Amino acid sequence: MITENKNSILEVKGLSKSFDGVHAVAGMSCSIEKGTITSIIGPNGSGKTTLTNCVTGMMPFDGGVLCASGVELARIVPHDVPTYGIARTFQNIRLFEQMIVRDNLLVVLTERAPLAALFERHSPLHEEQAEELLRHVGLWEKRDVLASRLSYGQRKLLEIARALAMRPLIIFFDEPFAGLFPEMVKTVVGIMKEFREQGGTIILIEHAMDLIRELSDHVIVMDAGTVLAEGAPAEVLSRTDVMEAYLGG
Ligand SMILES: Nc1ncnc2c1ncn2[C@@H]1O[C@H](COP(=O)(O)OP(=O)(O)OP(=O)(O)O)[C@@H](O)[C@H]1O
Ligand SMILES: [Mg+2]
Repeated sequence: MITENKNSILEVKGLSKSFDGVHAVAGMSCSIEKGTITSIIGPNGSGKTTLTNCVTGMMPFDGGVLCASGVELARIVPHDVPTYGIARTFQNIRLFEQMIVRDNLLVVLTERAPLAALFERHSPLHEEQAEELLRHVGLWEKRDVLASRLSYGQRKLLEIARALAMRPLIIFFDEPFAGLFPEMVKTVVGIMKEFREQGGTIILIEHAMDLIRELSDHVIVMDAGTVLAEGAPAEVLSRTDVMEAYLGG
């Protein structure tokens, strides 16, 4: 039972999702506080990505409800997700590979204003917003390069810029640091902290404990599709049952 929290921006109540009898998410409930970074951690296969997929409309869930922007939803479809201020990045990066970097952003920026897009596909305002975002994530120099030509880290930054272009209230990051060089990790950490400073909410799925400690205001530990523990990072990460779950206990 979740207590009503007026600072909560997103609530998940009894959410479940099975695949052929595998209960990937099994009656999961949690409440995400506005303007914070909440990390969702847990062993491989504990349901973190499935939960994210359900909340971001990538797959229907079997039971439970979401409460987003004060609205209770028993289902959510991809094109409705931005309406609720939700954006995400993927565990496997998804870009328009054969478009240049700037166009990857302009597509998102014009999608947000479909009427304007009918008359003037790339308005000066969108060009300006694209420039601002590319400078913000450090990709301005690469603006005319095909997405497929970027390094792995640069691709990650472009994916993050695309999420930011939706001007979301909440961003889900599914393992954003995996495979990044330390310099790039620092850049992404900086972007996340800045988003939070501006009032944004982040849900971070991550395995690296040092990053979880550095970034999280709150940690939720998933195991077997539900919440094993939650609380402040130092407290949660010192629990023996949490460590045992990680070690496959
Ligand atoms: N599309 C799918 N079809 C069938 N089973 C799936 C599918 N997606 C996930 N599963 C299963 O659901 C369970 C939860 O998987 P999920 O990917 O959500 O875990 P995770 O916590 O994100 O793991 P990881 O840390 O490895 O990314 C696993 O048993 C997985 O095999
Ligand atoms: Mg996953």
